Amino acid sequence: MPPDTTLTELHGWRAGLLWFPDPQTPLAQHETDGLLVTGRSADGIARVVAIGPYASIKESFIDLPITHWPGLCMAPGFVDLHTHYPQTDVIGSPADGLLPWLEHYTFPHEKQFSDPAYAHEVSAFFLDELMRHGVTTALCFATAHPESVDVFMAEAQKRHLRMITGKVLQDRHSPDGLRDTDTALSLRQTEALIARWHGVDRLGYAITPRFAPTSTPDQLHGAGEIAQQFPDVWIQSHVAENIDEIRWVHELFPEARSYLDVYDRAGLVRQRAIYAHCIHLDETDRRHMAEAGASAAVSPTSNLFLGSGFFDYAASDTAGLRYGLASDVGGGTSFSPFHTMHAAYTVARQTLEIAGIGRPGFSLAPEHLWWQHTAGAAAALDLGGKVGNLLPGCEADFVVLNPKATPLLARRTAQTETLAEWLFAMIVLGDERLVAHTVVQGQAVSDNRA
Ligand code: GUN
Ligand code: ZN
Repeated sequence: MPPDTTLTELHGWRAGLLWFPDPQTPLAQHETDGLLVTGRSADGIARVVAIGPYASIKESFIDLPITHWPGLCMAPGFVDLHTHYPQTDVIGSPADGLLPWLEHYTFPHEKQFSDPAYAHEVSAFFLDELMRHGVTTALCFATAHPESVDVFMAEAQKRHLRMITGKVLQDRHSPDGLRDTDTALSLRQTEALIARWHGVDRLGYAITPRFAPTSTPDQLHGAGEIAQQFPDVWIQSHVAENIDEIRWVHELFPEARSYLDVYDRAGLVRQRAIYAHCIHLDETDRRHMAEAGASAAVSPTSNLFLGSGFFDYAASDTAGLRYGLASDVGGGTSFSPFHTMHAAYTVARQTLEIAGIGRPGFSLAPEHLWWQHTAGAAAALDLGGKVGNLLPGCEADFVVLNPKATPLLARRTAQTETLAEWLFAMIVLGDERLVAHTVVQGQAVSDNRA
């Protein structure tokens, strides 16, 4: 291919490198002395231009300014498939499961986001915290207040981040101050926010019914009509997380075959629809999601914390259901992709009771865990080739890891013999101290060693 002469700001980054040569396959490639070349395209987005061993690539780029990080390793920025920025201060609120947790902590807290100044302060903290942890793309809930979307989008835009969010739709079974009192207005607000933000810079909009119990059928169907009108807008919600929640959904929607079917009847199961949790689905649901192109956001720290259950990896693979990892802050207990990957490993190890028979757990491979939080999550979002990987053409968002960040990490990673062992040591022992730098759009924006 001839060199792209429209590229500006060509820059080289020399360090170790980790990426996924085939984004569909959770097999990573690792170079100990790698070179990543980035440049800004005519559309203003910084992208990867070349990747590979330093010795073989450097000759193709004369006079390239190079940042050298000896001993560190560059890897794709993490993709968080489901989180809630307004729940930053809800983390660690104990409750007897999902519904009491929503009623006693989460709903009262989210009411505060009617105040744009408050929403602004939390947005800024949340986005900085994401970057400190190496997360550069997230699909994120706002609250029912349209202003909570505006301030989050503006803060993400300021940081040049690829973020997707949406106003939460909830017009029943919610307290005053958080409930949409006018269903038609809530849908018009959604359309106005799509017009204002979707596709602006790297921002995207997600139609966001909170979950079936807090939306009337009218609101769900209205959301489905908007989803049909804007096929490249995302949809995000929760499904089949908790047994009491599912019982409630069956009472509210007796005509539906399953919880997922409530969304399906409203036209909300399609490509770019991401459903958090997907724990208590049956085979029909999993297959239907797979055929429709919808994806699951696996949130293991949340599922363990709230006692919701365990995501069934084997059944999801059999059905061909796409999935990726998610923090689900604040049901989830950490912003750290390392904690989430570690929890996913723990969840897959559990024996699952299926039709009264125990099915033994298994060990998810470290590369697979990493893929679920990068290239796999990007594919689930329909953003494969854009984020979550470092192949040429991908957007220039990456993390720079220091495997010697703590005495124990230094000691343990020095003793590993294979790539899988090395990655697994970081997954089990890692947190934000591992993330020496986060680079967004070719600019180091966060330096945890400073
Ligand atoms: N179901 C409906 N709302 C929520 C939420 O905020 N968090 C989780 N984990 N589940 C939900
Ligand atoms: Zn959630």
